[in-house]
Amino acid sequence: MPTPWKQNVAAVAGSALAFAGSALSVDPVGGKLGDLVLSKCTAADGNTVPGAECGYAIVPLDYTNPSAGVAKIALGRYNATASPRKGVVFVNPGGPGGPGVDLATSAGPYFQELVGEDWDILGFDPRGIGLSEPQTKCFLGNGSREGFLANTVLDRGYDVSPNLTDPGNRPHLIQTQRDANALYQAQFEVCNQTMGETIKYAGTTSVVRDIDYINTLLSGNNSLINFYGLSYGTVMGQYLVNVFPDRVGRVVIDGVVDADAWANKPPYKQLHSWLNSTDAAYTIFFQECSKTGPSQCPLAKEQNEDPNAIMSRVEAFVNGLYTKPLAVPNAQLPGILTNGRARLFILGGLEFPHGWPSIAKGLAAAMAGDGSAMLDTVNKDLVDLERSAVSCNDQRPFAPPSAETIVDAGIETLKSVSRFFWSVIISEPDSGCQYWPVTPPERYLGPWNKTLNNPMLIISNTHDPATPLVNGQLVHSYLPKSSALLVQNGVGHTSTALTSKCTIQYSRAYFANGTLPAAGTVCQVDESPFPAASKSTSSNAKTLVASVGGRSRLSDYIYRGINSKAMRNLP
Ligand SMILES: *[C@@H]1O[C@H](CO)[C@@H](O)[C@H](O)[C@H]1NC(C)=O
Ligand SMILES: *[C@@H]1O[C@H](CO)[C@@H](O)[C@H](O)[C@H]1NC(C)=O
Ligand SMILES: *[C@@H]1O[C@H](CO)[C@@H](O)[C@H](O)[C@H]1NC(C)=O
Ligand SMILES: *[C@@H]1O[C@H](CO)[C@@H](O)[C@H](O)[C@H]1NC(C)=O
Ligand SMILES: *[C@@H]1O[C@H](CO)[C@@H](O)[C@H](O)[C@H]1NC(C)=O
Ligand SMILES: *[C@@H]1O[C@H](CO)[C@@H](O)[C@H](O)[C@H]1NC(C)=O
Ligand SMILES: *[C@@H]1O[C@H](CO)[C@@H](O)[C@H](O)[C@H]1NC(C)=O
Ligand SMILES: *[C@@H]1O[C@H](CO)[C@@H](O)[C@H](O)[C@H]1NC(C)=O
Repeated sequence: MPTPWKQNVAAVAGSALAFAGSALSVDPVGGKLGDLVLSKCTAADGNTVPGAECGYAIVPLDYTNPSAGVAKIALGRYNATASPRKGVVFVNPGGPGGPGVDLATSAGPYFQELVGEDWDILGFDPRGIGLSEPQTKCFLGNGSREGFLANTVLDRGYDVSPNLTDPGNRPHLIQTQRDANALYQAQFEVCNQTMGETIKYAGTTSVVRDIDYINTLLSGNNSLINFYGLSYGTVMGQYLVNVFPDRVGRVVIDGVVDADAWANKPPYKQLHSWLNSTDAAYTIFFQECSKTGPSQCPLAKEQNEDPNAIMSRVEAFVNGLYTKPLAVPNAQLPGILTNGRARLFILGGLEFPHGWPSIAKGLAAAMAGDGSAMLDTVNKDLVDLERSAVSCNDQRPFAPPSAETIVDAGIETLKSVSRFFWSVIISEPDSGCQYWPVTPPERYLGPWNKTLNNPMLIISNTHDPATPLVNGQLVHSYLPKSSALLVQNGVGHTSTALTSKCTIQYSRAYFANGTLPAAGTVCQVDESPFPAASKSTSSNAKTLVASVGGRSRLSDYIYRGINSKAMRNLP
């Protein structure tokens, strides 16, 4: 997500790390421990962002070693607009890799819809990410990671034979997996050469210590911590409440990843549960397409066509790409639409129901021979290794699995859980940590069942393709007395995917006075993915609902890895 946070560069620039080209020539971060600076946010056009402040806090680089120096955490604050002001809510947009400064300064009002206007919204770029320093700069030449990845499996995805009994499928996947392993190894060795030990300071354990440290700077000693985390932000939330169980104020995790699996299992073993609702969401896509008909969903031949028939045509097209990739001469970056890329496109699209009309249009165009929209969308929103720096510093070290082991687990998951297994390995780049070159100063691995001084609110959708309800139920089971689970009956990633006034009311009540939904509470959503079906969005709905269709939705800020920006900006 390179563009949105550029607006804040002016406010936070000043002591950027410099690399003189040789290994380990990392300048120390400037500033004095405990400094807290917040002043105006200057947009790229030179204008001040209204109502928002940008700045930074200087925190310990290594909480176990005071002599290691300091880190600079970029901050963005959107003040409470109602009084009396109740305090500060830290927010995180997910990823890992999602910068939070822009989330607070641009989406502050949308967050206040969820938590109440009497709270300040405090976003921060977690260490290693965005404007915070040390920055993750493993690939130093411009475009060099792009060049490194282009058309490799990490870019184009795995091509999977539609015929699972095809004896050529397994050897093909194993060869592809060997490439992937070597690519992980190469990129992490590049990082070892450019960043050396500096890369070990990223990671969620240090990030939650930063939250605690900054909260004390903002609100004083022993003040409680309030937090709203989406997607990977729910991992951060679980670390936060378990590392600081006595400091929990109001904490919401929305779109839940199981932090225990995140910390303790290699990704290929996590995906079984990760993908629990993915194919169900895919089915809903075709049901909604059928309901709305060809005017909004050109994949349908007629309104109320059998959704299975629509799905069969799409699957035949995607599977056909395995043997015959589509030439795409007119993409921004001309190339080929492969089976792996098509699956990545669909998987990314499932998470954002508001993009479904565009997803349908892009697919229909490709089925008619023009794959440019699909290829442009999956072409990377390039980042450095920020995400690996978090996931590999978080993951418990494990014995390197062989390519065969990963492939056999993948084929099994493909058969029993989801056709998107091999897509998630690429779209959620947390793999290859067996080659990670450093060990972080601290790595929290549990327990995840601490007794909290205030309960946490967990929100899960019934059909979230990335963070299924089973995860929310599992995390609730770790914290039976210290949490409540609110279920939103809807599709998409996090409760912000489709607006539910009911969910918003529960969230606001929790932040207002700690009221939790009764066990078993299920909220309905107030809108549908395809606009023709959402006429019921009434003019008296709250502002979040009124903003539907515009650019400014909270879900627009959720950070979803390599192709999230393109997903949101589809034609
Ligand atoms: C936000 O509130 C703080 C006091 O908590 C104040 O110093 C600051 O000027 C306010 N910022 C804006 C943009 O209103
Ligand atoms: C890439 O690097 C070259 C040489 O260092 C420089 O002239 C050019 O402006 C850079 N391009 C971008 C897009 O940063
Ligand atoms: C799948 O592959 C097997 C083994 O090659 C073959 O016998 C079978 O006909 C194939 N099925 C389809 C639907 O192509
Ligand atoms: C917070 O605690 C620190 C060290 O325990 C102390 O030096 C500082 O004065 C305290 N600050 C406030 C505002 O109480
Ligand atoms: C999802 O998880 C539930 C509970 O573990 C299980 O019963 C169900 O079969 C899973 N569904 C898929 C598609 O894996
Ligand atoms: C990382 O670099 C250090 C210092 O050059 C070296 O000793 C170490 O073996 C490297 N680690 C890996 C995994 O390449
Ligand atoms: C918390 O979980 C650990 C395993 O991670 C278990 O040994 C312990 O008994 C659990 N504690 C409680 C209070 O349930
Ligand atoms: C908590 O706050 C909500 C929202 O303001 C309100 O509807 C509810 O009555 C309050 N509950 C209690 C117990 O104060």
